[in-house]
Amino acid sequence: MQWRIEEKGFNQEKIEFFGSKFSVGNGYFGYRGTLQEYGKEQLAACTLSEIFDDNGNGWREPINMPNGLLTKVYYRNKPLSVLDSKILEHTQGLDLSAGKQYRQTTLETEDGKKVTIEANQFASIDNIHLLVMEYSVKAEAAMELTIQTGIDEEIWNINGNHFASIEQKAEGAVSGLVCKTLQDSKEIAIGQLVKITKGNGTVTNDDTDITFALSLQPGETFAFEKYVAIGKDTDCENPWESVMAFCSEASDTGFETLLSKQSAAWKKRYDSFGLSIEGDEEALQAIYYSYYLLYSSAPTHTDKVAIPARGLSGQVYKGAYFWDTEIYMLPMFAYCAPEIAKNLMMYRVHNLEGAYEKAQEYGYRGAFFPWESQEKGQDGCTHYNLTDIFTGRKMRTYFRDKQVHISADVAYGIWKYVTITKDKSILLEGGAEVIMECARFFNSYAYFKKDKDRFELLDVTGADEYHERVNNDAYTNYMVWLTAKITLEVLDFLAKEHPDHYQKVMEKLDYEKELPEVKEMAEKIYLSKPNQDGIIEQFSGYFKEEDLSIEELYSRIIEPNEYLGSPVGLAVNTQIIKQADVILLLSLLSEEFSEDVKEKNWAYYEPRTEHGSSLSTCIYALLAAKIGKVDWAYQFLMKAAKLDLLGNYKQYLGPLYIGGTHPAANGGTWMVAVQGFGGLEAVEDGIVLNPHLPEHWKQLSFRFVYGEYICQACMDSKGISLQVEADTDAPLRVKVRDQVLTAKVGENYFAL
Ligand code: BGC
Repeated sequence: MQWRIEEKGFNQEKIEFFGSKFSVGNGYFGYRGTLQEYGKEQLAACTLSEIFDDNGNGWREPINMPNGLLTKVYYRNKPLSVLDSKILEHTQGLDLSAGKQYRQTTLETEDGKKVTIEANQFASIDNIHLLVMEYSVKAEAAMELTIQTGIDEEIWNINGNHFASIEQKAEGAVSGLVCKTLQDSKEIAIGQLVKITKGNGTVTNDDTDITFALSLQPGETFAFEKYVAIGKDTDCENPWESVMAFCSEASDTGFETLLSKQSAAWKKRYDSFGLSIEGDEEALQAIYYSYYLLYSSAPTHTDKVAIPARGLSGQVYKGAYFWDTEIYMLPMFAYCAPEIAKNLMMYRVHNLEGAYEKAQEYGYRGAFFPWESQEKGQDGCTHYNLTDIFTGRKMRTYFRDKQVHISADVAYGIWKYVTITKDKSILLEGGAEVIMECARFFNSYAYFKKDKDRFELLDVTGADEYHERVNNDAYTNYMVWLTAKITLEVLDFLAKEHPDHYQKVMEKLDYEKELPEVKEMAEKIYLSKPNQDGIIEQFSGYFKEEDLSIEELYSRIIEPNEYLGSPVGLAVNTQIIKQADVILLLSLLSEEFSEDVKEKNWAYYEPRTEHGSSLSTCIYALLAAKIGKVDWAYQFLMKAAKLDLLGNYKQYLGPLYIGGTHPAANGGTWMVAVQGFGGLEAVEDGIVLNPHLPEHWKQLSFRFVYGEYICQACMDSKGISLQVEADTDAPLRVKVRDQVLTAKVGENYFAL
């Protein structure tokens, strides 16, 4: 496996993209993959998890911290950098094995002398408050240079300043800033400690600016290490005291030791992933990279946050948590790192209150989970979420109001977590209430049509966001049905296994009257069936919309960045959809539909899908792999897996920056490899392995956890081997294609 992802040469046009591509993070913060000399114009940013702020303009976004790694080199008082100087050589890269960003740049001064800058930086996993850098400058000829390193207070924010105050601090060797947010007066401190490791220079300190005046001999190198620490009052009693301590400890430990701890921590993460592919280095690296990116934004330390739609690579999508978490990111964690999956689901449990408030706001009962959930579970989405590119006016959008499927996705997520991990404790810790309240929400949202004797869900937006406010969106209706069924199963489990808890929640939620209605909803909700051609209509009336090709739709575009969806976009009255919708339904509820239906719907919907969301191609790949259409699947897998590597996505929508990494696609990539090609599915009483490998994958091997079993599956054209470890003697039930077998713990089991 090639652990280094590298770009040679400098390209001004790619600064923003590389900022996302080479980002590092540890779930506490993300630091964009920018170079040390960059500022806000180049979108340098350190995005913090958990703290959000609205500075009064109604747009609540996560906090970007002052940039603690800002470092500039000057020659004859002029900057020497990729932005200002002649570049002789330049490499920027990411070492996945350590989660470390590196650069090596050789520049030429105005009088023809060579200077080489090298830097390595990482967001520590060992101490998530730490950002660590080593930086060196080598002069080929004798010269005087000045290096200035500090904390840049010029912060890149999408929607204006978020600090009411920034106070300078300096004590001992640590200098820094203590910032207070505008809206909630949250206190966040950032500190820096710089240690010279090679060469000499005259050092001057001016607030947070540290300047080295150097007189270098030919071939001489000057190097320093920089320890930056961030602490916020939600987890540090006194943030400034904490960051001082973190900086000093880190400096005592030293860069090399911190880096070896970092490599060991990432190794542990990759070991729990245990994926290998024989015959496809390119796919393997792209899948590892996806895993790296998703894990870099994952909350390992808290269950009070989830993973934002653009990870911690910036403030895009208001740093909010979407249904992307449950449907796209959760599976990988549930199978590879269940403790993180639990954090993600507990975030929803902690935020049931926000979902109650949202339901009440719209006149419903139960839990209506937000489309853009922020730290307290409130919806960060505004009513006017987009700007019309032609008129410059804000457009009324209904993402917030009508994507009711989010509540079903949350219930599904908790249930999936339980099915995979067998950790039912989450149900006793509030998970059951969340599921029950989601069902109650749908019970109050659904219409009962007496003449048709069925429940319908009217005026909703499904997964495909181009068509807002439709009736009976297939994905939504099926997921609501599933929510009702899950609720009944959860209550059945509680009644049998935890009768006291059953009593408690039934009383607490006053659910006696609700229960028969939820049962009725499970039986009578309208579930659209395949038509005579085997196609499931995405929503009532979809087939009546104009049926045209995507090329034809594109030919009508006037402005390159115009929005195609509701309320007035070009796709609205057509069958062109933004992202997988029916195909998502067929992938998630695979066992409910025949292979024939899956194949026909894939063939029908794919040419009508614009894949305008990064949530789309992975799902088309997943379904194709499940039904053995491996060529289709492979093509779409590679699109999803290489999205963040190649930057094949829009950086701007109108004037709004929407770039960043794509955690949903990253999680989806894992799903395609393991659940699609590997055919893994956890079910109530065991696992299913139904592999369909691309021809050039000579062997696929992956590790996963199912309940107390830790399994390594390995598959090739000869068959499947499964190694199962657990603290129990009870064998694991495994369904391989049509055979049902029991795999004994400790044995290497083989099936044809
Ligand atoms: C997609 C949504 C998704 C959101 C955040 C939108 O473009 O259409 O389904 O939840 O992005 O990733």
